[in-house]
Amino acid sequence: MKLAKEIGRISRLDRYKRPEKVKGAAKLDSNENFALDSEFIAKIAAEAARGADLREYPLDELGHLYGQLAKYIGISEKYIGVGSGSDQIIELLLATLAGRGSRAIVFVPTFSYFIDRCELNGIRVDEVPLGKDFELDARKFVRRAKKADLVYICSPNNPTGNQLDKKTVQYIIDSLRGKLILVDEAYADFAGYSLAREATRRDNVVVLRTLSKAFGLAGARVGYMVTNRKLAGAFKSTIQSPYPISTLSLTIATRVLERSAQVKKTIEEVKAERKRVFDRLAQVDGIKTYRSDANFLFIETGKRYRAIAKELEKEGIIVRLLGSAAGHSGCMRVAIGTREMNDRFLSCVERAVVA
Ligand SMILES: Cc1ncc(COP(=O)(O)O)c(C=O)c1O
Repeated sequence: MKLAKEIGRISRLDRYKRPEKVKGAAKLDSNENFALDSEFIAKIAAEAARGADLREYPLDELGHLYGQLAKYIGISEKYIGVGSGSDQIIELLLATLAGRGSRAIVFVPTFSYFIDRCELNGIRVDEVPLGKDFELDARKFVRRAKKADLVYICSPNNPTGNQLDKKTVQYIIDSLRGKLILVDEAYADFAGYSLAREATRRDNVVVLRTLSKAFGLAGARVGYMVTNRKLAGAFKSTIQSPYPISTLSLTIATRVLERSAQVKKTIEEVKAERKRVFDRLAQVDGIKTYRSDANFLFIETGKRYRAIAKELEKEGIIVRLLGSAAGHSGCMRVAIGTREMNDRFLSCVERAVVA
C-alpha cells in the first residue's frame, strides 16, 4: 500500500535529535544567546502577556513586527516574509518551490536540519565536502550545482562557524541564475556581511534570518526572510499560513526589536568573548579551534575528546559533541555564553588536557 510505504520511508529517515534539558546545566549546545540579560527578555514578555487578548487572532501585531524588522535591517517590508522560526520558512519553501523529485546541493558539514527536511520532502541532496579549513572550492560547487534545482548556503555555516568570503558567495549566485538559492544567515548578526539587500534585487535568492540567536528569542519562534518583492508578496499572501506566529511572540519580538540598541551591544560583547575564548583555546596543546563568524566555535580535540567531554559532563556544561566530522576527529561545537559560562568551559578544557 502506497501510504504504508511512504510512512515506512519517513520512519527510516534521519531525524533531528532534540537536546535533553539538564536542570542547572550551562547550555552551550544550541547557539542561543545567554549573554542577553534574561531580565530584559522576561520583562518584555510579562508586559506582552498583560496587554494581549488571546481570544483574538493576531492582526495588527503582524504589521508591527514587519515595521520593526524593516527598520532593523534597513530594507522595506515589501521584501520581507516572517515565519514560525526560520525552520518553518525553510519547510514552506521546500514544499512549494522545490518539491518531490527535485534536487538540492549543499556543502558539508552544514545545518543538518536542512538536509533532513529535503529528504522528508523527497528532495535528493548532493553533498560537496568543504576543505580542511572549511573553505569551499566554488568552481567545483558551481559545476555540480548545475544539476540541482535548489542551492543551500549556510552563511556563517553551522557547525563550522566560518562565513565564506563574500566574493565567493557572489560568484556562486552569479553563476546559478534560475535556481532557487537559499542563503541561511541565522548567525549573520555576528558576522561580517549579509546578502539581504542583494536578495531584494535577484529573482532567485532568499536570505533566511532569525530572532532565535542574536535576539535571544529562540523560545518565541520568530524567523524571517528577505527576497525579491514578487516572492515576498506571494509568500505573505499565499505560501505562509494566515497566523503563523502567536500574538505573544509577535509582540515580544516587536518590542525586543524596538530595543535593538541593547541587543547590538550584547552582540559586540559576544564577539569580544568569541575572541577571548578563541585566544585562550589557542594556548591549549593538542586541540585546534577554527575561526568563527558566528556565536559559537568549532573545536577539534582529537585524542582529548573523551577527557574533555567527561570533564564537561562533570561540571554540568553541555556542548554539541560531534565526534568525527569532515575528516576532523573529536569535534565539538560550543556556543559563546556569558563570560562566567565561557570561563567555566575554558577551565574544564584546561583541566582535562593537563590531567
Ligand atoms: C543555520 C541555522 N538555520 C536555521 C536555524 C533555525 O532557526 P529558527 O530558530 O529560526 O528556526 C538554526 C538553528 O540552530 C541554524 O543553526
